[in-house]
Amino acid sequence: MRESFGSRFGVLMAMVGSAVGLGNMWRFPYMVSEHGGAAFLFVYVICVFIICLPIFFAEFVVGRRSQSNAFRAFEKLAPGSQWKWVGFVAITAPVIILSYYSVVGGWSIQYFFKSCTFGFTELVTQEYLDSMFAGFISSTWAPLLGHTFFLILTALVLMGGVKSGIERFGKVMMPILYFIVLAIAIWTATLPGASEGLSFLFNPDFSAITPSVCAAALGQAFFSLSLGYGTMLTYASYVSKKENIASSSVSIALSDLVFSLIASCAIMPAVFAFGLNTQGGPGLVFQTLPYIFSKMPFGGLVAILFFLSLVVAALTSAISLYEVGVAYLTEERKMSRKKAVIVLFVAIWVVGVLCSLSFGPLSHVKIFGNIFFDFLDKLSANFLMTLGSLMVVLFVGWKMKKPDVFDEFTNGGTLRGNVRLFRILWPVLRYVAPVAILVIFISNLIG
Ligand code: PHE
Repeated sequence: MRESFGSRFGVLMAMVGSAVGLGNMWRFPYMVSEHGGAAFLFVYVICVFIICLPIFFAEFVVGRRSQSNAFRAFEKLAPGSQWKWVGFVAITAPVIILSYYSVVGGWSIQYFFKSCTFGFTELVTQEYLDSMFAGFISSTWAPLLGHTFFLILTALVLMGGVKSGIERFGKVMMPILYFIVLAIAIWTATLPGASEGLSFLFNPDFSAITPSVCAAALGQAFFSLSLGYGTMLTYASYVSKKENIASSSVSIALSDLVFSLIASCAIMPAVFAFGLNTQGGPGLVFQTLPYIFSKMPFGGLVAILFFLSLVVAALTSAISLYEVGVAYLTEERKMSRKKAVIVLFVAIWVVGVLCSLSFGPLSHVKIFGNIFFDFLDKLSANFLMTLGSLMVVLFVGWKMKKPDVFDEFTNGGTLRGNVRLFRILWPVLRYVAPVAILVIFISNLIG
């Protein structure tokens, strides 16, 4: 018998756990600050609701209808066709992204340990933190240790299986995570000078909206909602037939959006209040925040809570990426769950080691002008993810039969609201979403 999620809350928390991750706490804040603040946010919200939500519905439909892993799903719904190759991309892409995701997860663990020894409470300067971060990621052993530890933690949860591993972990950790980040956001809102940061976030200057801002916003939305990688599809295949696809997807997308906003509210006002550079880049969370913590009352404690949250958020996302491969190996290659977890561990670990070393000992190795880490980041975020999403919407909109899609989306026509929503969804799936994704895809390719 195939495993499934036990409760509605458990499903939601596991999916929110997949969506909420480094993308919200590490990537989103620096994307917002690099791309004009509120203007970026405005485009981002539109992307989430108009383009990403229909893709989310599509992944849900494919996963739940097929009740299969990402590879089998396409083969099952379109037997004998070439669509199975989409399934192939859907199971390899998560392994690729996980190998570098785990490296950043490892940095978070190391920063968590550092905060536990109150490493950010001395009178540190920004320059010191910058060089500490640069020195740390380019060193050989410390990041490797973090990567290994992070991957072991992920593997341990996966050994537990869907219900007692993934679901139980998400149910407990996700609410705690929200609480911690919300508490930090409330505190930063009271800082003198915080209002400037809030207005940077919420007061849009529409002239700042450029094509590159739109492309960045859509890419971020894909990444944050875990779309195009077969993760939501795999989780959806464990969801009961009674679940309402539309309301679950909307709740997950909203929770993800709200979390990104809370995380930005925890970070940006503090950046302004301390007069720091808003162009923090990927180092924002690791360089700028520790400086802020060092200046806060009880900052040592806040730092511990923050980095703990970062680790937990990264873990629940990594679990979802890992599960795509586990589902494939256990169901298609008939491996035991334990063996599947171990086989994948080795593959992901090795690629991750190359990623980690690419900041230091292997920094001279360039692929298309990028170090290995950046190459994988670009390959997955700009290429595989968009390609995966495009394929899923094309599959649902053009290959699956409309009555089947309708049946799955509306639970056999019994959900009135979904029946009405389907009228708008269908043309969006067939025309609007593929065209929008294609435009972004091409602009990423030539940009
Ligand atoms: N959504 C996760 C995050 O925001 C990343 C992720 C991408 C997870 C793709 C699964 C699949 O960090």
